[in-house]
Amino acid sequence: MRDALDNPFSPGSDTVPDVWAGRTEQLSDWRDVVRPRRLAGLPERGRTILGEPGLGKSTLVRRIAQEASRAGDWVTPQLRVPAGADPLKLVAEAVLALAADAGLSSSREKRIGDAIARVQAVAVSGISLTLRGADGREPFTALTALLVEVGLAAIADGRVMALIHIDEVQNITDEKALSQLLIALGDALTHEVEVSVPGGARVSRSLPIAVYLTGLPDFEDMAGARMGATFARRFKTTTLSAIDEEDLAEALQEFVLEGWAVSDDAGGSARVRMTPDAAALIIDVCRGEPFLFQLAGEQSWYAASTATITADQVRRGWQGAQREATAHVERILERLPARERQLLQAMSELPAPERTATRIAEAMGLSKVTELGPTAQRLDTVRGIIDRGKPYTFRHRAVEAYLTSDWPRV
Ligand SMILES: Nc1ncnc2c1ncn2[C@@H]1O[C@H](COP(=O)(O)OP(=O)(O)O)[C@@H](O)[C@H]1O
Ligand SMILES: [Mg+2]
Repeated sequence: MRDALDNPFSPGSDTVPDVWAGRTEQLSDWRDVVRPRRLAGLPERGRTILGEPGLGKSTLVRRIAQEASRAGDWVTPQLRVPAGADPLKLVAEAVLALAADAGLSSSREKRIGDAIARVQAVAVSGISLTLRGADGREPFTALTALLVEVGLAAIADGRVMALIHIDEVQNITDEKALSQLLIALGDALTHEVEVSVPGGARVSRSLPIAVYLTGLPDFEDMAGARMGATFARRFKTTTLSAIDEEDLAEALQEFVLEGWAVSDDAGGSARVRMTPDAAALIIDVCRGEPFLFQLAGEQSWYAASTATITADQVRRGWQGAQREATAHVERILERLPARERQLLQAMSELPAPERTATRIAEAMGLSKVTELGPTAQRLDTVRGIIDRGKPYTFRHRAVEAYLTSDWPRV
């Protein structure tokens, strides 16, 4: 019992974790809004899910993709953009795979054959201009054309849709590649086709295609700078923040009530329980960070092999995880521009009720409080690290704990 093979916690792995917490709003947005609307031919924007590292962006959309795939949808694998890579190549390959799922590769229609051939060329040469020379069209138009064919195939099928997930979008640093990609996807999302409805009338509808982009908050600036309002019209952005304590408690409730089922050494099954105070301590130390939640759970699991996880085991486990927890928050802070880090520092040094714009500006040595504006705004709306109420508060509770207390020590 309680070994590496049956440990249900998974910090940093590329799977959907067994111990899932929260994100109900985003999951129901997919289940109740995006999928049904796009299936019904109604317009619905693509989704951009941004947030600081470790907040569960990739995992969230991986879970959405898993659900979609179980419903029979045609789903790309999570396409992770390596820094500096040509995203058009990556997406072209994925769209070819979608076309194969949609049964288009064996189509004898010339139009479809041409669309596939053009995307194959993009998969080989990406954004490089040689392609443009060949027929005068930009590579992205090939992607849109094939996505439209995939969408038409999905309409013909009647029950399924195509889902595209591109991860680490902030790595698309080539401006031309970024705008081509966003235009290609946006054009497919807004494309309308005419279909016949019972009674013979022709009506236009959108294609059953959904797009999820995930990455660091910096992406919004990049996309906004390239495409401005067009980007906002075609993609709806959500910035993830910490997971609520109630949601974390709910996730651990199965351990507390029935115990988590594992196989025992004799080939039967057993249950690993958690005392209520052990669960409370995991929730406390992780500060709403999904990555730290998995880490605390994993280390508590390994702290002993008894049938019940106790608070003392959580404490011992977390001690072993402190360095990693510290490094996690330091990574988040190190990525921030100096001015933003300064603001967080100044804010953390003030007593909570005194964290007003005026006092923070003063502490930062700014002559006017208005100079604080842009930095504070970014930390709030773009990054979701603070909340500019009166007074300012931290939304990223691990960053707050790191700066204001002796956390992660317990
Ligand atoms: N809703 C969730 N409930 C529980 N654990 C989660 C959840 N979302 C993410 N995690 C865990 O948090 C860690 C970081 O998630 P990840 O998706 O890689 O973050 P990001 O992509 O934002 O950097 C992973 O170990 C993952 O299993
Ligand atoms: Mg990720």
